[in-house]
Amino acid sequence: MTALVIVGAGGFARETAQAVADTGAFELLGHLDDNAGLHGTDVAGVPVLGSCELVHELPEARVVICVGNPRDYAARARLVRRLALPEERYATVVHPTAVVSADSGIGPGSVLLAHCVLTAAVRVGAHVAVMPQVVLTHDDVVEDYATLTSGVRLGGGVRLERGAYVGSGALVREGATVGAWSQIGMGSAVLDDVPPGEVWVGSPARRLRAAGAPALDELATPTVGGPLT
Ligand SMILES: CC(C)(COP(=O)(O)OP(=O)(O)OC[C@H]1O[C@@H](n2cnc3c(N)ncnc32)[C@H](O)[C@@H]1OP(=O)(O)O)[C@@H](O)C(=O)NCCC(=O)NCCS
Repeated sequence: MTALVIVGAGGFARETAQAVADTGAFELLGHLDDNAGLHGTDVAGVPVLGSCELVHELPEARVVICVGNPRDYAARARLVRRLALPEERYATVVHPTAVVSADSGIGPGSVLLAHCVLTAAVRVGAHVAVMPQVVLTHDDVVEDYATLTSGVRLGGGVRLERGAYVGSGALVREGATVGAWSQIGMGSAVLDDVPPGEVWVGSPARRLRAAGAPALDELATPTVGGPLT
């Protein structure tokens, strides 16, 4: 069985640990986290082995990076850049209840939690977090480092650019684009294209403010494995 470590030990990391257990496809060695207070403890029965840098001492283990929250959704991209692992070190975790069409693709380091659906010709890039019950429909493109929280629905031909964050239960109209590192508030209905680096909320969604500086800093993060066309 393939050995795996999960970088991070917070909420998303624990959810991913459960998905990993449900797949039965990996031997989960443990979590890695920079919070030294967690080292030597366990979270939900999974040991916290040490800091994130320990990935370099576990060359046989595949890796998924499971950090980030609505206030710092660029955290995953920062860790990818910092750890500088070759692409082949990254695993792709797909919960067994997810339904992924044969003509859809998912990149390295990405995680799909329970009951996600990718209907037809959906392309999901690298290090993308897809929470439970997200529905991606025909011809959607989700670029590297994007986050789709629980219950998000995208109409056909939607593009989420790099690092975009879509809050719980949000809807995006067919053909719309959400710009790089932009954030959509929970429960919003996006009808128009959202430019990069902005926060939009409401139904219909309107601009609330610029996205935070940490997210904008990540605009320079290189694309993993070439751009999705
Ligand atoms: C969009 C978001 C990032 C804005 O956060 P914020 O900048 O701290 O905004 P505030 O809470 O200060 O609210 C600012 C204004 O926007 C409104 N607003 C905030 N989120 C909203 C939303 N999702 N829909 C509609 N309006 C919203 C507030 O009512 C407030 O309006 P007012 O100025 O008229 O009173 C946040 O509310 C959000 O939706 N985050 C995503 C949460 C999520 O999906 N979590 C799931 C995974 S843990």
